Amino acid sequence: MIVAPSILSADFKRLREQLEEVEKSSAQWIHFDVMDGHFVKNITFGTDILQAVKESADMYVDVHLVVSDPEYYADVFLDAGADGITFHLDAVNDIGRSLALIRKIKSRGANVGITLYPEVDVHEYLPYLDEVDLVLVMSIKPGFGGQPFREDAIERIRWLDRLRKKHFYNYRIQVDGGINAETGKQCAEAGADILVAGSYVFKNKIAEAVDSLYTL
Ligand code: DX5
Ligand code: ZN
Repeated sequence: MIVAPSILSADFKRLREQLEEVEKSSAQWIHFDVMDGHFVKNITFGTDILQAVKESADMYVDVHLVVSDPEYYADVFLDAGADGITFHLDAVNDIGRSLALIRKIKSRGANVGITLYPEVDVHEYLPYLDEVDLVLVMSIKPGFGGQPFREDAIERIRWLDRLRKKHFYNYRIQVDGGINAETGKQCAEAGADILVAGSYVFKNKIAEAVDSLYTL
């Protein structure tokens, strides 16, 4: 299991202090949501903030591109130090271009992940599953932290887990949205490998909240 605190819910008045707490906790990754105010109605962080995060905590930074133009922004955030890039297939809407983007991100030595809005049919993942490092199951509609966990994410995790066992795919299954100790345990039991948690980690004692997510 990997726990990835999402800094979307951090207290930005004391970001450095909170990043140091995350670094000292048992979390391995930092989840970094880039939103452009277009693909979703929220605007978050650019590359200067990514560089500041990298300088404040020596951790793997997992960039979730919640943007309309991931083909442009993948390079921009890789140049700024992203360790992994996850993009929305439903932002590209083209199999050939999505495959080209997956291959480009991998050719730059980073991990690549794909995701979809929670309502989109999971079969949309099929053309990419033998090429990606990670599949992200959105357990909320992307855009804002603090929303309740969608139970339909569990069946999506199980489906992805069954498929990788059957076909010997290598992707890890990540879940993002509404994760706390209880929903995180349900996801882990269904086959999830990486839990993203924003409000649960940053609205509680960081190290304790992170520890409580390692349930299996
Ligand atoms: C929302 C983001 C999430 C967000 C999750 O679009 O992708 O990473 O930080 O927040 P919580 O854990 O509060 O649901
Ligand atoms: Zn996210």
